[in-house]
Amino acid sequence: MADDNEVLMRVDNLSLHAGGRELQHSLSFDVRAGEVLAIVGASGCGKSTLLRHMIGLQAPRTGTVTWVAGGKARDVHGDDPPRREIGVAFQAGALWSSMTVGENLMLPLELYTALDEAQREAQARAKLALAGLPDAATFDAEPAALSGGMRKRAAIARALMLDPPLLCLDEPSAGLDPLTSARLDDLIQHLKHELGTAIVLVTHELESLFAVADRVLFLDVQARTATALGPPADLRDQGPEPVREFLTRGRYRPHPTAPRAPQEEAA
Ligand SMILES: Nc1ncnc2c1ncn2[C@@H]1O[C@H](COP(=O)(O)OP(=O)(O)O)[C@@H](O)[C@H]1O
Ligand SMILES: [Mg+2]
Repeated sequence: MADDNEVLMRVDNLSLHAGGRELQHSLSFDVRAGEVLAIVGASGCGKSTLLRHMIGLQAPRTGTVTWVAGGKARDVHGDDPPRREIGVAFQAGALWSSMTVGENLMLPLELYTALDEAQREAQARAKLALAGLPDAATFDAEPAALSGGMRKRAAIARALMLDPPLLCLDEPSAGLDPLTSARLDDLIQHLKHELGTAIVLVTHELESLFAVADRVLFLDVQARTATALGPPADLRDQGPEPVREFLTRGRYRPHPTAPRAPQEEAA
């Protein structure tokens, strides 16, 4: 079981930019072993951009992201990035359509391990079952043949193939019906408890947040920095006004004199 106090990743004084514009500045926080950390904030505030910085896809202009688990500090953007340690299932990071689900899952094992084919297949089937897709037919299916909810689960299964201590999910429930979405919350809980995987989760959904998050990081779109970090119930009861508003009603009330929040472009 993960040590609750162990820090996996340290984000220090990070700023986020897109299209020449500063989205966020002075972001400093840790990701702890085994926790579910939810990143919330108005559409366009930079949540997905933050995740891209955390997994090493986008290099920071200011600040650092450091993998610190295991006692050796490794810059996520340096020469020895923690690729195997971070699993990613993003909206756009879908499965390869030219391969079966099983082939998709076995690929990371081919790239990063010395397991033989029978072992790779056994692992892939085990991860599908863990992600709630035990049906043998799923293994041989083309991703296009799966429902949206099943594809999300398969993408999560793939992200878990190398047993990463950290899993990053960007709005896993987006586009799913409420029941499928609630089942995905159960899966996140299950992963946390069964595997001790830390999960960084971008979400808009309050129910999901209160069900699964140990801590919430609130990115304020107007202040352009994180204005709250803590357990969801604490922030709802004692957090700054915009955070309480969001955690109570699931919406944001921009200050009347402040500029409007930029809207995220439709995918
Ligand atoms: N490559 C890019 N070039 C220009 N603007 C971008 C780029 N990527 C994101 N943006 C803009 O940056 C803002 C933040 O994007 P994003 O991180 O996706 O926000 P969120 O996930 O919080 O909704 C949005 O206004 C988006 O349109
Ligand atoms: Mg986003």
